[in-house]
Amino acid sequence: MEKVQLRNSSAVKTPCYLYDLELLDSTLQAINAESTSHANYHVHYAIKANANPRVLQRIAAAGLGADCVSGGEIEVALKAGFPAKEIVFAGVGKADWEIRLALEKEIGMFNVESVEELQVINEIATSLNIRARVSFRINPDVGAHTHAHITTGRAEDKFGIDMEDMVKVIRMAESMPLVDFTGLHFHIGSQLLEMDDFQALCVRVNELQAVLVREGLFAPNINVGGGLGIDYDAPDAHPIPDFQAYFDTFRRGLQLREGQQVHFELGRAVVAQMGSLLTRVLYVKHGKQKRFVIVDAGFTELIRPAFYGALHAIQNLSVPAGKPIYTYDVVGPICESSDTFARDYALPETRRGDLLLFRSAGAYGETMSSQYNCRPLPATYTTDDIQNLA
Ligand code: LLP
Repeated sequence: MEKVQLRNSSAVKTPCYLYDLELLDSTLQAINAESTSHANYHVHYAIKANANPRVLQRIAAAGLGADCVSGGEIEVALKAGFPAKEIVFAGVGKADWEIRLALEKEIGMFNVESVEELQVINEIATSLNIRARVSFRINPDVGAHTHAHITTGRAEDKFGIDMEDMVKVIRMAESMPLVDFTGLHFHIGSQLLEMDDFQALCVRVNELQAVLVREGLFAPNINVGGGLGIDYDAPDAHPIPDFQAYFDTFRRGLQLREGQQVHFELGRAVVAQMGSLLTRVLYVKHGKQKRFVIVDAGFTELIRPAFYGALHAIQNLSVPAGKPIYTYDVVGPICESSDTFARDYALPETRRGDLLLFRSAGAYGETMSSQYNCRPLPATYTTDDIQNLA
C-alpha cells in the first residue's frame, strides 16, 4: 500500500476497497515457506475474513484449503477453486440444507459443535447414503488476550463441546454407521499476538490426547483453528505476520501421535494487511471543541471500529509531507454516533476532497459491510486497477 499514488483522482469511486495482490502473494509465500516443511501441516484459509473472488482465487492457487462457516462460503470456495477435500466446515448453527450441500460436495470434514448437530448430520448422511467425516470442536476453556467479542475458547462461550463430554461423544459418533470420526478442532480467539496463548492451547490439546490414548481412541486430525493477529499500529513495518514464530509454537508445543495431521484456519493473518479502505473527505467541520473530518465511508463499509473499538491507521494521500499536523475526529455519514473511525487522530491539515486510506482493512472489512441506510456495497479495486485508473 505504500506505493499507492493517488492525488484526488475523480476516476475512483469511493468508498472502495483496495487490495494489494502482490502483498497477498508474498504473504502466501511466507505461509507456504514456513508450513510446507512439515508434511503433516495443512493451512485452511478462513473465508469469512475476505471472500472477494479475486482474493480467493489467489489463495486457492497457492494451495491452501478453506475453512467455511456457511453453505454460501462452501459455494464461493468451490467456485474459487479450493478442492472440496480441503474444505472444513465449522459453525454452531449449521442448517439442514448446508449439511446436505457439504455432504453432496464431499467436503473434507465437518467441525461439529454439539451432540444435537451430530445427530442431524447422521440423519441426513443416512438419508443421502453419503459418509460424513466428523471432527469435534472442543471448548478448551483457554482465555486468550484479545477483545471479549472475539475470544471463543472459554467455558462460558457458546462454541464447542465440553472436554468432559468428549469421550462419550466420540463413542457415539463411532456407533453411527455413516459417520467417520476424523479428529478434534479448537479455536481460542482472534487477533492473538502472544504466542503464549497458542502455547496454552497446545497444553490443553496434549492433555486431551492423553485422555484419548487412555480410552484407546485415536484422532487422525488435530485442528488448532486460527487467530494469529497482525500489527494494526504499524502496517508498513510489519506487512507480513511472523508465521515462523506461529508454526514453531505448535511444532514445539504439540505432542503428536504417529500419523497425525495438523490443521490451521488462518483468516486475518492472510489478508488483513493487503487491504485498505479508500474514502474521500466530504467536509471538515469545526465544532466547538473538536475538528471533525467527515468521510464518505461509514461503519457500513468498515464496522470494526464501531463494533470492537478497533483503530485502523489512517493516511491522508492528498497532502504532501511537511504540512502542519492537527488532531481530528474522523467520522462517517451514518446517523449513529458509533460511526466514528478515530478520535483525536493526528493528520496533516485535511480538506474537502482529500483521499484517506484506512489501513489493515483486508480482513473482516468487505465481508462485514452492510447496506444500512440504503447505502450501496463498496466497490473493490486491486492496486493495479487503481494505478491504471488514476
Ligand atoms: N476458525 C474459526 C472456528 C473461527 O471462528 C475463526 C474466526 C477463524 C478460524 C479465523 O480466525 P482469524 O485467523 O481470522 O483470527 N470479525 C472479527 C473477527 C471474528 C473472528 C471470528 N472467527 C474482527 O473483525 O476482528
